[in-house]
This record gives sequence, structure tokens and C-alpha cells, in this order.
Amino acid sequence: MSDNTDRYAVFGNPVEHSKSPFIHSRFAEQTGQQLEYTAQRVDPDEFDDAVGRFAQNNGKGLNITVPFKQDAWRLATKRSARAERAGAVNTLVINGPNDYFGDNTDGVGLVRDLRKNYGLQLEGRDILIIGAGGAVRGVIEPLLECNPASLTIANRTRGKALQLAADFADLGNIKGCGLDEFGNDAYDIIINGTSASLSGELPDLPATLIAADTFCYDMMYATEATPFMRWAEQNGAQQAVDGKGMLVEQAAESFRIWRGCEPDTAPVIEALQRL
Ligand code: ATR
Repeated sequence: MSDNTDRYAVFGNPVEHSKSPFIHSRFAEQTGQQLEYTAQRVDPDEFDDAVGRFAQNNGKGLNITVPFKQDAWRLATKRSARAERAGAVNTLVINGPNDYFGDNTDGVGLVRDLRKNYGLQLEGRDILIIGAGGAVRGVIEPLLECNPASLTIANRTRGKALQLAADFADLGNIKGCGLDEFGNDAYDIIINGTSASLSGELPDLPATLIAADTFCYDMMYATEATPFMRWAEQNGAQQAVDGKGMLVEQAAESFRIWRGCEPDTAPVIEALQRL
């Protein structure tokens, strides 16, 4: 790489196991773009300085992961409407010193994975999301834009689900509830957006949520089936998948924003499944 190679990176903590360098290198190869993409662990109180240094060092864009998405939102000098509403930024475009455009591609990544890669129709469907943290907030607007019949947010801490539903009530039929407040209805699509999978845990969910044609999606991913996927399979869901496709699709949207070209995600998702 020459000194004036355009540089990109993912900033997080921890970030060592990030798949983003692998994904973006594949995209760059595919599209013939000259760039470098690395993963950088950043100390929690160093975020702003680290972005500034990266910008001075031919940095053109950043992906931002846990725990810095709110910091990136704050640091952005301009934001897309979807990032504004999500309250979190996972993509920064560096236009110059202290000139950062913030976007959030997580929700688009989820919707594209569901629609394009799994062929799901979201319009008119009853969708349930488990969890009400930052990861869920980021995907609500793009999901509601698909006109589901209903979007239910269920969370261990009930008040957070009610608050999220209130924050997005102007965009569609959305409601919040606690994990012990389900009726007997099953859902067409159930999405796990809690961080419980990361620690191998599973929220206590009734099997009645699942019907024979229910599609279950875990926004987390792992080398083997997550606890949520196993729960879904054990209770007769039609299909249970993890979030590797969402990861690749959100990366593709970031790549498009930075480089203006559309990578082909299918071979990269396939390569990631084989890692
Ligand atoms: P993230 O940025 O990944 O969304 P977060 O904002 O800390 O992280 O949110 C984590 C989400 O996972 C929350 O909805 C949390 O529920 P609470 O709001 O009740 O804390 C949920 N969560 C984490 N571990 C869980 C568990 N073992 N059972 C149920 N929900 C869990």
C-alpha cells in the first residue's frame, strides 16, 4: 500500500474478532478499489482523539461498533435522517478535519438480509423483536418502512420497550411489552435483538410465539447455532438463522456510501459461513 492509500477501519472495544476487515477486503477486491481496512481497538476515553488522528492519516471512513456508536453520533457534524432517529452511528464518512458525516446502516442491513437473502415479505406480517437496547433502536425505522401489519417490541425491562414504541409510534403500528405479557398469538417473524446470546443465555420465551411458518432471526452470530436459534428449532420454527447476512449487508451499505459502488454480498456471506 502506498502512503496515499485511502484508509478505512472499524473502531471498537473489543474489536479483535471483528469480521469487518475480511468483508471489506473482499468488497475491495471484487470492485477493484484500492483501499486499506483495519480493525482498531480504541480506549473508551480516547474515541474523539482516535478519530481525529485517523482523519489526519488519510482516513476516509470508519465503521463504529460497541461501545462507541453513541459517541460517533455525538461526534458527527452532520447525520442522515435514519442515524438521527436511531441515536447511533455505525458509519462515519470523513470529509476533512472535524467534518464527519454519520450514518447508520444496521437497519438497512437487516431488512436486506431478510428480504433479499431469505426472500421474506415483510409487508403485512406480524413481527416480534426481543430486546430494546441500542441494537434494536437502530433497526426499527427501516422495519416500519416495510409496512408490517404490526411490530411488537418485547423486553425484560418493560419500560424500555414502551419507551421505544412511543419514540417510533408516528412511523407505524408499533407496541411495547414485557417478556411476561405475551398473549397466545404466534408471530410470522421473530427477531432476537438482545445481547443475551453473546453470553450463551436466552430470555425465557413461551413456545406459543412460534407457529409452523414462523421465521426466527438472531441479530447476533456465532460459529454454531445461538441459544435463540436452538430454542426456535426445538419449538418447530420453519427456519432459524443468525445475523451474518445482516453483518455483510450493513457493511455493503457502508462501502457504497464511501466508495459509490455496490459490492456483491452473496459470495462474501458464503465465505463468512465457511470461516
Ligand atoms: P445493545 O447495544 O447490544 O443493544 P444494550 O443497549 O445494552 O446493548 O441492550 C441489551 C439488550 O439485551 C436489552 O434489551 C437487554 O434487556 P434489559 O433492557 O432488560 O437490560 C437485553 N438482554 C441482555 N441480556 C438479557 C437476558 N439474559 N435476558 C433478557 N434480555 C437480555
